[in-house]
Amino acid sequence: MSLLANLFRSSIGRKILMALTGLILVGFAFGHLVGNLQIFSHPDKINGYAEFLHQTGPLLWVARLGLLAAVGIHIWAATVLTLENKQARGPEAYAIKSWIRAGLASRYIRWTGYIVLAFIVYHIAHFTLGATHPADFKSNYSYVLTHDYTVAGLTAVKAGTEVPNVYLMVYRGFQSAPVAIFYIIAVGLLSFHLLHGVDSLFQTLGLRSGTWANCLRRVVVLLCVLYFLGNLAIPGAILTGALQPHPAAAVTATASAQN
Ligand code: HEM
Repeated sequence: MSLLANLFRSSIGRKILMALTGLILVGFAFGHLVGNLQIFSHPDKINGYAEFLHQTGPLLWVARLGLLAAVGIHIWAATVLTLENKQARGPEAYAIKSWIRAGLASRYIRWTGYIVLAFIVYHIAHFTLGATHPADFKSNYSYVLTHDYTVAGLTAVKAGTEVPNVYLMVYRGFQSAPVAIFYIIAVGLLSFHLLHGVDSLFQTLGLRSGTWANCLRRVVVLLCVLYFLGNLAIPGAILTGALQPHPAAAVTATASAQN
């Protein structure tokens, strides 16, 4: 049996697949947050960044398909492992014992996973497809970059390029209280999911033992709290008015909206 087939067919293989796909998804989640935090800077930043990603064309599609595969394998492995655990568990007494022993994040990991999945579907419909709020969609409001957007010192998108106004789309999106609150709850549940997920990821990969386990737990808690606060900051600052729309993005929007 090849290594890959073994990973899919054995229980430990499925655990490893879950850990590795989890690692990919955590990497994406943190990278995405860092990109999104550019909303607190000049609109050139987040708009230039989104344009740069879209200009990578086939590479973006490879990344998207990779992420989709990671999500699919992660959910498949989680479902099969849960069913196997249920079958193996047997007597009710054991179920009660493990319920008491497990922490909250671990106990509700499946439910937080389902809700996060529903959020991602909504989120893609909202910001990638423009299906939920078509009037605010990024392509309706163009934006002209005032500075070059650079990556590693190299110009990725030139000043003067007309690009979709992601800044304004996100800003308008979070001016709606139900939308902003839904995002805050969803990222809260995602952070809670990561609290147990990242711990068990290290456990599966055999990187969580002895005194290091306690230290790792603290690092994981800290990262999850920072992840939550970073994600909370964006809808939170817009909804409360702490972040005022940058005039550069607002002016372009008015001009485009009048056409
Ligand atoms: C305040 C929080 C967030 C903001 C402001 C935000 C913003 C955005 C924006 C603007 C896009 C569209 C980019 C474009 O096509 O130009 C996007 C896409 C996406 N976001 Fe988020 N996001 C947030 C949270 C999350 C979270 C928590 C996840 C899941 C871990 C996530 C997953 C995705 C995915 C999978 C896409 C699709 C990427 C693609 O089109 O290839 N986002 N996000």
